[in-house]
Amino acid sequence: MKVNFYTSKREYSEKKNEFDSAISSIVQKGNFILGEEVSRFEEDIQAYTGAKYAIGVASGSDGLIIASDILGFSNGKEVITSPFTFLASTSCITKHGGKPIFVDIDEDTFGIDVKKIEEKVNPNTVGIIPIHLFDQMVDMDRVMDIANRNNLRVLEDAAEAFGMRWKGNGTQYNHSGTIGDFGVYSFFPTKTLGGYGDGGMIVTNNEELAKLVKYYRVHGASKKYHYDYIGYNSRLDTIQAAVLSVKLKYIDNAIKKRAEIAKLYKERLSDCEGIRLPIVKGNQKQVYYVFNILVENRDGLAEYLKKNEVGYSIYYPMPLHEQKCFEYLGYKKGDFPVAEKVAEKILALPIYPEITVDEVDYVCETIKKFYKK
Ligand SMILES: Cc1ncc(COP(=O)(O)O)c(C=O)c1O
Repeated sequence: MKVNFYTSKREYSEKKNEFDSAISSIVQKGNFILGEEVSRFEEDIQAYTGAKYAIGVASGSDGLIIASDILGFSNGKEVITSPFTFLASTSCITKHGGKPIFVDIDEDTFGIDVKKIEEKVNPNTVGIIPIHLFDQMVDMDRVMDIANRNNLRVLEDAAEAFGMRWKGNGTQYNHSGTIGDFGVYSFFPTKTLGGYGDGGMIVTNNEELAKLVKYYRVHGASKKYHYDYIGYNSRLDTIQAAVLSVKLKYIDNAIKKRAEIAKLYKERLSDCEGIRLPIVKGNQKQVYYVFNILVENRDGLAEYLKKNEVGYSIYYPMPLHEQKCFEYLGYKKGDFPVAEKVAEKILALPIYPEITVDEVDYVCETIKKFYKK
C-alpha cells in the first residue's frame, strides 16, 4: 500500500463537475482579476467566520505582510511572537524593519507560551502575533488581555486555523482571526480550506483597517490610478475564489471527517509506547489541519515510513531563531529549549477528508512495526 501525505485528486474526482464548471465559467467570462466571484467569496467568508470585513489577497504570506505594514510593525518596533512556525509568520515583521521578539512555546500545544509574553513587553513593543498552529488556537483571552492593557495591536496568524473557534471564558465561540485587529487565512492547497494554487484572506472587524487593506492590495490606490499609499499587487485570483467557493460549501463535513480520522489515529496509537498524541488546551473548537505526534528517533521513523511508502511531513525541523536569515537578531541555539526539543521529535501523519480507514490502519501498523523492531 502507498499512502499519500496529501492529495487533491480524490476530492476533485468526487466533485469534478462542480469544480470544472466553476473554473470554466471564469475562463468564459474572462473576469480574471477581482471578478464578482471574489467579492461573493469574501461575503461567504464573512458569513462563515463572523468577521465584519474579509478581503482576498494573493497568499497568506502576503496577507501577513500587508497587515503588518498597516499595523506599523516596522522601523525597529518590537513584535512578540513564537519561533516555532512557518517563516512567513515572522518575515512579515522584518519586511519593513520591525523586530521579532521570540517567546518559547507551550510544550503541550506548540503555540506561544502565553505565560511568558508579558515579561517581553516594553515601551518599544507594538504588537503580538499569536500563531494558531496545526490543530488549535492560542489562548486568545490571555493574548487580548495583555494587548489591551499594554495598548498593543494583535495580528492573528490563522493561516492554518480555518474553522477553529475560541470561547475561553467568553460567552460565545469566536472564529480564529476575528478576535485581534487582523486575522489572516492561507488557502494553500493542503490547508483545511485549500485552493488550486496560492490564495489568502485578511479579516477584520475594523472598518478603517479594512479600507486600508482594500487600497493596499491594489498598489495603495483609493481609486483607479490614484495612489494614496505605496501598496502591493496582491489580489485573490478569481479562479481560486471560484474553486474555494465550491470547497466552502462542504467545509463543515471536511472538518468533521478530519476529526474522525484523528480519533482513529488516537485509538490505534494509544497503546504504542513512546508516542505522544496531540493535547488540546482551552475552551475551544479545534480543527485537525495537521495531526502531529512526538516520537523518539523521529528521523529513523521518518526513514522507515518513506521506505514503506507512507507520506509524512515535518513541521518544522528548525525553529526560526536558528535560521540563517534571522542570524542578525542575535538569538542562539538553546534560547528556546521547548521549541528546539519539539522540532527534533515532531512528525505529521497524513490527514485529509478522503483518506480511508484502511490507509490509516496501514500508517499505524507501520509505525508500530518500527517501534517493535
Ligand atoms: C503558520 C503559517 N503562516 C503563514 C503561512 C503562509 O501562507 P501561504 O502559504 O498562503 O503564503 C502558512 C502556510 O503556508 C502557515 O502555515
